[in-house]
Amino acid sequence: MYNDNPTLEGVVKVIKEERQGEVFFKESAQGLTSSDSKHFYIESYGCQMNFSDSEIVASILAGAGYQPTRNLEESDLILINTCSIREKAEDTVRKRLKIFNQIKTRKPGTLIGVLGCMAERLKAKLIDQEKLVDLVVGPDAYRDLPKLLIGAEEGEKGINVFLSREETYADISPLRLGSNGVSAFISIMRGCDNMCSFCVVPFTRGRERSRNAYSVVAEATDLYQKGYREITLLGQNVDSYKWENPETKEVVNFAQLLEMTAHVHPDLRIRFSTSHPKDITDEVLHTMAKYENICKYIHLPVQSGNSRILQLMNRTYDREWYKERVDAIYRILPDCAISSDIIAGFCSETESEHQDTLSMIEYAGYSMSYMFFYSERPGTLAAKKYPDDIPLKVKKSRLAEIIELQSKVSLRKNKADIGRTFKVLIEGDSKKSDQDFKGRNSQNKMIIFPKKGSYQPGDYVMVKVHDATSATLKGSIVD
Ligand code: SAH
Ligand code: SF4
Ligand code: F3S
Repeated sequence: MYNDNPTLEGVVKVIKEERQGEVFFKESAQGLTSSDSKHFYIESYGCQMNFSDSEIVASILAGAGYQPTRNLEESDLILINTCSIREKAEDTVRKRLKIFNQIKTRKPGTLIGVLGCMAERLKAKLIDQEKLVDLVVGPDAYRDLPKLLIGAEEGEKGINVFLSREETYADISPLRLGSNGVSAFISIMRGCDNMCSFCVVPFTRGRERSRNAYSVVAEATDLYQKGYREITLLGQNVDSYKWENPETKEVVNFAQLLEMTAHVHPDLRIRFSTSHPKDITDEVLHTMAKYENICKYIHLPVQSGNSRILQLMNRTYDREWYKERVDAIYRILPDCAISSDIIAGFCSETESEHQDTLSMIEYAGYSMSYMFFYSERPGTLAAKKYPDDIPLKVKKSRLAEIIELQSKVSLRKNKADIGRTFKVLIEGDSKKSDQDFKGRNSQNKMIIFPKKGSYQPGDYVMVKVHDATSATLKGSIVD
């Protein structure tokens, strides 16, 4: 779930640049046009959950009288919502902070705040090291922003990195700033209780907690009424979603939540991310099969195809278990696409263990993958227990092999779609031409096709595929 651009081009971009920050545009902020209010600028890095959090932050700031801007020079408050997942992600943020600091030198009084996972990981160090940071706010402390801002305006450094066991921001209606008006994210849970040895997330996001199921359904209903046609339910491990109604003691699991959201409207598509191979149940797969509007696409990160490495990673499944889950998906949902996250060159990985990862890409037939080389993160179990002993050159060459094979598999899978007709949700103009629309099929594949008739973004159309690359399908509307 690291990037919302599910193309191989997107994958390569992530590896090269660790997801460039995205800026929320003033133009797309609805209902916030007063000219004398203060302005904030926010840049987001990392996973979809971080992007979703920025929309919660925007909503909280709007309540405190701030409106969004895309213009750094115009902003009174510059926020950067950060990611700690790999070293390079943090380096990118440090570079951006230097640029923000130059702006502050030109325009004293501008406040700079670090939000998200780096704020949580580095805490007060950020204020001590990067002298011009005024605010450090962790992922569970965003409600405190207005109060911290008042202090910061008076010259106090503001920090709150308290991790909560309850906070889900269930009552906050996110401000959909960077949105295309068609697709939106809904966070259904926060934190993570898995202790994958390579991963910093349990330390930066805290304990796992699930959000009130009825607040999720209410948000989905509201989005549908506002014209949205696709929602993605977000969590680090959605399959362990479990919410107990404190009054009735009724328990809602992930399959049941999927069913509840599928009922909002048959024209509202439901997606979700991320599934953990140890937790994805047949009940979820059967629920997906039962509803046409639950998309036939599962992001099921394998990380490694070798059982010994999986054990060192503390993923709690092995190669055989993973293959069985893949078999179950294709058995229950023959038309489902599966994608993955893969780490090359984890501690002590041998060449033949790396070959197991390559053969898993073939076995699972991933439509696409997000691929990374291992980056040791301070404080994680792997950093404490295992030497980071695979030379960078070897990590990079293994990663290149993984990318090359995935690209071949993606091309093969996409070519197999030539001649088929898919129901596509129109998202907007294609990047290359305003004569073409882009949209996705249920399997989350991007399809480009010429505009026709009066169709608009948010409409469903039937598109027949006549060409394919490893990243996209091309087609035309059939009536
Ligand atoms: N909750 C999701 C993953 C969140 S992090 C899951 O369990 O699948 C997104 C991806 O970043 C991970 O799946 C993993 O492939 C990658 N990643 C995490 N820590 C990493 C590290 N230390 N080095 C390289 N890649 C890492
Ligand atoms: Fe990290 Fe593992 Fe949790 Fe995913 S499931 S966020 S990889 S600890
Ligand atoms: Fe997401 Fe990065 Fe944090 S992947 S949870 S923003 S460390």
